[in-house]
Amino acid sequence: MTLQESDFAFVRDFVLSRSAIVLEQGKEYLVEARLAPVARDAGLSGIPALVEQLRRQPSGALATRVVEAMTTNETSFFRDSHPFDALKSTIIPTLLERNRADRTINIWSAACSTGQEPYTIAMTLRENFPQLDSWKVRIVATDLAEHVLDRARAGRYRQLEVNRGLPALYLTKYFTRHGLDWEVTPALKQWTEFRQLNLIGDWGVMPRFDVVFLRNVLIYFDLDTKRKILGKVRRTMSRDGWLFLGSAETTLNIDEAFRRVHADRGHAYQNAA
Ligand SMILES: C[S@@+](CC[C@H](N)C(=O)[O-])C[C@H]1O[C@@H](n2cnc3c(N)ncnc32)[C@H](O)[C@@H]1O
Repeated sequence: MTLQESDFAFVRDFVLSRSAIVLEQGKEYLVEARLAPVARDAGLSGIPALVEQLRRQPSGALATRVVEAMTTNETSFFRDSHPFDALKSTIIPTLLERNRADRTINIWSAACSTGQEPYTIAMTLRENFPQLDSWKVRIVATDLAEHVLDRARAGRYRQLEVNRGLPALYLTKYFTRHGLDWEVTPALKQWTEFRQLNLIGDWGVMPRFDVVFLRNVLIYFDLDTKRKILGKVRRTMSRDGWLFLGSAETTLNIDEAFRRVHADRGHAYQNAA
């Protein structure tokens, strides 16, 4: 089946307006691969019928399924390990000093997908800073897609997923076995809170974040959207807080109010103002 140009254009505009994800010309194969199962599950004959249905009813469960199906949820434990090394070597030691009056640390994992990123943060903190037991640690983890958030909240992972990046020591210490799956311990869940948040929508009330992980999501957006989101992120951050982006992402030439700083073997961004 080949996707009609008008159906592709409809899906492209639909997804762009609801998520900011840009589907360039040439991504027709992706739309076909992702939406054919959505159409099938909805009892529709194919993507043309799905588009027809969305034109008639542009909101509701089917619309949500279409947008969620077009998100890419690739992630793993300890992905690009340097931000976690930086938490251990410099950032948390600095915050233990800087925040000692209110004994609070707020971290945001924006676009957290199935939760490996926020749980990696929690493990890094538990493993290296037992004194945080008496602190108020909040790891706010958000994503656009409810289906990944459900998995993140459950904290259950398949063997294949824990095999990717998770050291054996952490598996035995921070997970319990459930049949073929592994579930994170309550000690990790206790610090993490998951909520649905669209980066181009209303963020509601947010705490002031000491560290923000905004990794591997800006790549899907156009320049103007990146600029708006980075500006908004900057305003949620505490003075001298740290922002981590994915390895293919930068604030350079997008938001000059950020400056790039060394963070362990990699780099982070801080508010230069
Ligand atoms: C590739 S994953 C990144 C996961 C994790 N941060 C990492 O680096 O491993 C990108 C995530 O961004 C989410 N996403 C895409 N558009 C979004 C939006 N407009 N608002 C919030 N999250 C979005 C997707 O649902 C997906 O789970």
